[in-house]
Amino acid sequence: MNKISLQCLSILVVLMMLSFGANSTEDNITEGNSTEGNNTESLLIKSPNNDVSIEFILINGAPHYRVFTYSNETKSDEIISASKLGFRFKDQQPLLTNFKLVSSSKQQIEKHWQKLWGQSKNVKNHYRELTVQLQESTSLHRELTLVFRAYNDGVAFRYLLPEQSALGKFAITSEETEFAFTNNHSSWWIPADYDSYEATYQNSLLSEVTAINTPVTMKTSNGYYLSIHEAALTDYAGMTLVKKPQQNLTLTSDLVPWPDGIKVKGVTPFKTPWRTIQIGKTAGDLIESNLIENLNEASVIADTSWIKPMKYIGIWWGMHMREYTWEAGSKHGATTKNTKAYIDFAKDHNITGVLVEGWNKGWETWHTGLSVQDFTQAYDDFDLAEIAAYGLKNNIALIGHHETGGNIPLYEQQLEQAMALYKKVGVHAIKTGYAGKMLPEGTYHHGQYMVNHYRKVLELAAKNKIMLNVHEPIKPTGIRRTYPNMMTREGARGMEWNGWSEGNSPEHTVVLPFTRLLAGPLDYTPGIFKLKFDPQEQYRVHTTLAKQLAMYVVLYSPMQMAADMIENYHNQPAFAFIGQVPVSWDETRFIDGEIGDYISIARRSGKQWFIGNMTDEQPRSLSLALDFLSADIIYVAKIYADSIDTEFNDNPSAIAIGEYLVKKGDSLAAILASGGGQAVHLYPAKEEQLKNLKAIKFYNAEVVKNSEVFAQGGQFGEIKQVSHLAVNKSIKLLSEYDQGYSGGARNALVDGFIGNSDYKSLWQGYRKKDLDVVIDLGKQTSVKTIEIGFLQSQLHSILLPSKVEFELSVDGKVFNAVGSMSYHTTKTVPDFQKKQFSSHFKETTARYVRVHATNLSELPGWHIRPKQEAFIFADEIQVH
Ligand code: NOJ
Ligand code: CA
Repeated sequence: MNKISLQCLSILVVLMMLSFGANSTEDNITEGNSTEGNNTESLLIKSPNNDVSIEFILINGAPHYRVFTYSNETKSDEIISASKLGFRFKDQQPLLTNFKLVSSSKQQIEKHWQKLWGQSKNVKNHYRELTVQLQESTSLHRELTLVFRAYNDGVAFRYLLPEQSALGKFAITSEETEFAFTNNHSSWWIPADYDSYEATYQNSLLSEVTAINTPVTMKTSNGYYLSIHEAALTDYAGMTLVKKPQQNLTLTSDLVPWPDGIKVKGVTPFKTPWRTIQIGKTAGDLIESNLIENLNEASVIADTSWIKPMKYIGIWWGMHMREYTWEAGSKHGATTKNTKAYIDFAKDHNITGVLVEGWNKGWETWHTGLSVQDFTQAYDDFDLAEIAAYGLKNNIALIGHHETGGNIPLYEQQLEQAMALYKKVGVHAIKTGYAGKMLPEGTYHHGQYMVNHYRKVLELAAKNKIMLNVHEPIKPTGIRRTYPNMMTREGARGMEWNGWSEGNSPEHTVVLPFTRLLAGPLDYTPGIFKLKFDPQEQYRVHTTLAKQLAMYVVLYSPMQMAADMIENYHNQPAFAFIGQVPVSWDETRFIDGEIGDYISIARRSGKQWFIGNMTDEQPRSLSLALDFLSADIIYVAKIYADSIDTEFNDNPSAIAIGEYLVKKGDSLAAILASGGGQAVHLYPAKEEQLKNLKAIKFYNAEVVKNSEVFAQGGQFGEIKQVSHLAVNKSIKLLSEYDQGYSGGARNALVDGFIGNSDYKSLWQGYRKKDLDVVIDLGKQTSVKTIEIGFLQSQLHSILLPSKVEFELSVDGKVFNAVGSMSYHTTKTVPDFQKKQFSSHFKETTARYVRVHATNLSELPGWHIRPKQEAFIFADEIQVH
């Protein structure tokens, strides 16, 4: 492009901006510029809040893009460096280079829309957009258009292939989109697989990634969180990302092929899905982002009265437990009688849907490699019309099931009639399945053929007023905005894996919210109450019961299953939570979390809030500030938590349920067992409850259980939340604390609270033993104070330690003393005396902090119980 046409371009841009008047601000839309010499032209748009930008650059005729974040007006960080764009075709020259910039335009759009259902109700769709028209300067003069968008929560771009004589019908053999990352980010990914997303997420450096599915999540060293994915995947192949030889930090698009190796077949005019880069300052920003849905078209369904999010139970887990069979026979699950029992249970327990798998003829063939199912013929012991009518009478929706087994031609042949049958009997939801070897031969689940098949089923479902829950699906890319009957899908290693494999680790479910769920709802199927179901102990569910409940808040799905067999829900007070929890929300707040470690999410529906807290294998205590509550409401917090008896291996189903009064500004403590969780339902208190319930200071499951025993101690001191270097850091106990006297307050030593006298909550007790603990601060840190609180109570045989020693270490091996304090216990001390032991020293760099407190171990002669075993009770090591 020469100077003159560049000037024309600038004028055009200014004109565009003028015509968008009020919304466009000149300083945020940078003009094209040309650097003399290296033949580079660039155009840049910033997000409406100016925090991120995406730039188009034409380098020697080859289109590229770059992405920046801005910590302030002058300081920018390049997070994607110049990355290539373009295609290779069969029987056509590639579209990669020899381009000239023909024209460009920019605009700013701000629109508002409401979700029919979702994690939040009101959405702002606010972005700046840059459209770039390119044309080859060589023989064919083919045209290519690029559209870039900058949102506050990330950037996106797509390719448009305009209708043109030199490019009509085409076959893409490779999309060459690059993502050139600027650092070796910590990344969470599943391997590229053209047929399945059901893998365990791995966490590695970007340099160790080879080929992956999207979405992939990254944490940058300067504190940003990124998720790379795609939006509006329509009539195109799913995108995987691969590392090309010699590339260390760059991922390149690798589309899932057709059986003949072609990636995408099409005719111009044509548009690709959006390539998306979500950007957040916290991992929670990614969770709260609406970027993927904003990049999709508005709903095309006019009458949505039949689209109803729901909780459902089903004849399902029984098959995975090998208690029932899908196919007819003596153990057939889908019988009329059984289904009616499920409908009855649903009606009595605040559940509105019942799924039935194994109702139709043909399941005998499912595992043979050629699945031949009949989607209009029920087995003889299943009366579809009668059951559907029974459901309608009881206001329970029957969820139909189509397991194609991968036999697509057969399913497409029956599709119209199969949908019509469900419509006729009043069924408004279907779960589909694609578990099996795909037909036509050589077709992959994630290629263009299947993307189009899934869409065909979705459109036909919409026509028949049917909602979809798709298993073995194509990944979610926001199509639910356009077709809000696309409710939920699998596309992850779900609960079923616990039924018949080594299962999902406690970590898996605290990775999913930061990875797969960024793309869209997940039918994980939580709610297994019988966690240790296998007498042989080969299989189990790897969580506590409280964590199963927390999943209803954390793992979003507008169709949420209570997956266990109903017999396992009888007489279970914890089921009340499942009955109460909504499946669509007005608002979602990420409270706290780290990818793969723990998560804490709050969601609002009307005046009610629900909180879900989940941890991995690491027990931890969290303190949650309830600052999102309304100031003028006193709430009841019904808390379902891991209890003092909860133990991941031996007693995962133990749960403590309690009700308290809370208000805005209160803190909620969540003490999570290994593999544990906590679920909380907050709602405005009724008069009765205001009178009868106790206010919460902070809550711990164990307090409820044991408080009477120690009630005479009373409260003293203020409860204060403190923050310091040790909070939420991992601690290693070198001496075992006493379970029975510590209320399971596993991380009490670095819990972030001081001043609580109730030693059953956040104190750790040591019977006859010394306290010996090492805190790993995670990295070399500057430290100048260590403090620890102890309790004394003659009545309860608790003595202050005779000596407390403080040490620091750089490597965790060699520790150096930085102070100690001795204490002489006398009979004159008042009961429930609290004393802080501390050491203040010259600022020192270290990573490990060690505290050793000596227990007299035997009560002294003057004591009311001389010579009996002595306890020391410790609370809150503070490191500053
Ligand atoms: C796999 C699905 O994920 C599961 O939910 C279903 O029960 C089986 N396929 C059979 O359709
Ligand atoms: Ca972890």
